[in-house]
Amino acid sequence: MLITIEGIDGSGKSTLLARLRELLADLDPLFTREPGATWVGDSVRRAVAERMDPITEALLFCADHAAHIDTLIRPALDEGRLIISDRYADSRFAYQPVVLDGVIPDPLSWLLRIHEGWTIRPDRTFLLVLPIEDAVSRLGPEKKREYFESAAILSRVQENYLGLAAADPSRFVIVDALLPKEEVARFIADEIRAGALSSRRRPRA
Ligand code: TMP
Repeated sequence: MLITIEGIDGSGKSTLLARLRELLADLDPLFTREPGATWVGDSVRRAVAERMDPITEALLFCADHAAHIDTLIRPALDEGRLIISDRYADSRFAYQPVVLDGVIPDPLSWLLRIHEGWTIRPDRTFLLVLPIEDAVSRLGPEKKREYFESAAILSRVQENYLGLAAADPSRFVIVDALLPKEEVARFIADEIRAGALSSRRRPRA
């Protein structure tokens, strides 16, 4: 079963994932991430740091996804493991349309087409949502300066995420990231556990 965790920078994903590792340890999940599950992620981070052109950057994020699927996701699914990924394809569909706005026409359709035929759809996606000012206030000064992390950009990214969730309500679970951290972690852990138990009874199609 493939679970993905999504949300803008400052939404609390890192704290959540650390707690999920403890709460779900008995299920022995594979914790992974995008970008950076393979060495392709290093080139993505370099492209972002050096402000490479947005098409290069988008295609490197896509390459990182392909390598991630081939190296980790598909083999683990074949073994019947529970996988929890910190960011996945929806990060591309939420972030890159903002970066590619004005660079190419209809960036979201372009990105969806690039993923077509080889990506693997998550079984469930937890989207952490919060007011932009709270997300920005959680970021350290160093982080605030980073390319993606100005309030205006994060606000558009979150709108894109909410659009994706509205278009696919059976997959997305929207979570209020302002709730106490422990409450958020326990809710998501319980949902994952319930899904993992029912998917064991129902073999993957
Ligand atoms: P991280 O902070 O979760 O490691 O993610 C690095 C940054 O890259 C974050 O600002 C989100 C952004 N990102 C994209 O723009 N597109 C993508 O496809 C992914 C996976 C991340």
